[in-house]
Amino acid sequence: MKIPVLFFLLLLQVAQVFAQNKAVFSVQADKPGAAVSPTMWGVFFEDINLGADGGMYAEMIKNRSFEFFKPLMGWQIRSSKSTGTLNFGANLLMINRPEKSETNPRYLQVTLKNTAKDSLGLTNEGFRGMGIKKGLRYDFSVLYRLQSGNAKIHLELVTEKGEIIGSSQFTPKNTGDVWQKGETSFTANATEPKAKLNIWFEGTGVLDVDMLSLFPGDTWKGRKGGLRADMIQMLADLKPGFVRFPGGCIVEGHDLSVRYQWKRTIGPVEDRKLVINRWNYEFAHRPTPDYFQTFGLGFYEYFQMAEDIGAEPLPILNCGMACQFNSAEVAPLGDLAPYVQDALDLIEFANGSTSTKWGRMRADMGHPAPFNLKMLGVGNENWGPQYIERLKVFQAAIKREYPNIKLVCSSGINHSGELFDYLNGELRGMKAEFIDEHYYSRPEWFLANAKRYDSYDRKSVSKVFAGEYAGQSDKTVSVNNKNNWRTALAEAAYMTGLERNADVVQMASYAPLFGHVDGWQWKPNLIWVDNLKTMPTPNYHVQKLYANYKGSQIVPILYKDKLPATGQDSLYASATLDQASNELIIKIVNASAKAQTTEVNIDGVKKVDAKAKLITLQNDNLEAENTIEMPGVVAPVEKEIETKGKKMELEVKGYSFSVIRVKL
Ligand code: AHR
Repeated sequence: MKIPVLFFLLLLQVAQVFAQNKAVFSVQADKPGAAVSPTMWGVFFEDINLGADGGMYAEMIKNRSFEFFKPLMGWQIRSSKSTGTLNFGANLLMINRPEKSETNPRYLQVTLKNTAKDSLGLTNEGFRGMGIKKGLRYDFSVLYRLQSGNAKIHLELVTEKGEIIGSSQFTPKNTGDVWQKGETSFTANATEPKAKLNIWFEGTGVLDVDMLSLFPGDTWKGRKGGLRADMIQMLADLKPGFVRFPGGCIVEGHDLSVRYQWKRTIGPVEDRKLVINRWNYEFAHRPTPDYFQTFGLGFYEYFQMAEDIGAEPLPILNCGMACQFNSAEVAPLGDLAPYVQDALDLIEFANGSTSTKWGRMRADMGHPAPFNLKMLGVGNENWGPQYIERLKVFQAAIKREYPNIKLVCSSGINHSGELFDYLNGELRGMKAEFIDEHYYSRPEWFLANAKRYDSYDRKSVSKVFAGEYAGQSDKTVSVNNKNNWRTALAEAAYMTGLERNADVVQMASYAPLFGHVDGWQWKPNLIWVDNLKTMPTPNYHVQKLYANYKGSQIVPILYKDKLPATGQDSLYASATLDQASNELIIKIVNASAKAQTTEVNIDGVKKVDAKAKLITLQNDNLEAENTIEMPGVVAPVEKEIETKGKKMELEVKGYSFSVIRVKL
């Protein structure tokens, strides 16, 4: 008799130990708290790493209007002078006439004299080549002027080896002194990641050409001169609440002369004056001498794109201060008026009626309806009393005319310390609506700081915009940084803290967004691309799971009946309720290597569905990365799990991020 009793007691003890080790969560589903802002998870866009030119902006010809500092950068002159097949007198001349056109002074003058095809022309190398797809239409256009004679333009798309994979020709009309747009389209018969475009001139006469342009036929929404559809689709799939543009440091400029000026980025593309991209020369270890901003993707296109993907537009403007890491140039307070006027005019451009000057401009560009701008950023990573002084001028002027526009204000480059504390205090004193906090830190920092906002002031009218963050596997601006699972998992853990504090944190975005595998300056990035493909990083999947399964209200989720899970036993958790689908959404991160048995009890409801959905991102190797060739190394896996009454039992794997959705 004694043996079975002892055995039973032993079993009981084992069961107790097991129960103690079980990770028990209780979700108080009947105690919904703060609303999760519809803008909670968004995207940060900056023209860095060939994000716009050479990336999202689908133009394939680099230096299309010869305005780069070196007028023929990206071009190679093709002439058979040396073989004697080019007639004397036929040549190419770069004409520069700044007094006639301040925004687009250069064009190419082609003098032809019985010139045969293939003896005088140009080759454009594209942005790290041109990504050409078999069977796709390509649209070529040119601004030209043919005063006399007969000329022909021949086009050839060629592979790296020189094979022709698409061709067309175009016969310019005699236009006298008038510039005209010529167009022709053709289909490629092969796929090539690094094609080039040959442009040959034939005939007799003087032909002036400018704005030589080639776009793929599959742009986003089929817009001519538009954006790369696969890249925008990646953003749309995130279902972002907002799109912040155009940066980033690009807003500030290395000095004020190259700051971002939105008025120069609207209207006809040929009149948008190009500037050097600050990332061209920012890092000596990653120089990109051919990086310029043509503004083919300008403020109108940003607004349109945000609207297309259902996100709130969040433009950020220069506050009269250039980058404080670089020149630290400032506009004197007395000279701030044009900067402030730019902000007021931008609001009119976005929201004004078509009877206003800037509202009319928006309508003329094709969008009579307002863009419904609600937020505006003033300054990027600016800091110090000089920032506050300038911000106050903007705040007063904007609030006077547009009291409902919410301002996003900078808390500088640090997430803590003297600089941060000073700005945080000042901005809260000024009742700034959003304080933009940036953290580029090691994964350990993200794990240790999931509690960051638990102690923030709930009463302050100022809300947090976690505007730029990314786990740095090495250190900020290191070329060794990786988009590995370690960083993504740490971000997922940290984001439970953002979500739990949705009353304090109302917007968040990973940064930077895009990186071109052959043209990057900064790592890590949320999405990597080459000329033909896009690649989601593990970090992208984390962002997507949060944004796609956001919920509308937070609900408390306790760990072992006590506190929220903010790292105890390496577990992190948050929960929201989605009123539209009547679903409870539970997010659990297991940052340890070992699997953990969990029990999730849903309190305060009568019952839940017998089946729940579980999406897991997991990899045993924290160094795992996705690549263009192997994009699915870390990818979400979805399955159904059973519920027992109001309880779910599941084993959360080591190094995993789980999203559970259960209907109430
Ligand atoms: O995201 C890259 C850069 O990091 C941004 O331009 C800047 O705001 C930050 O320092």
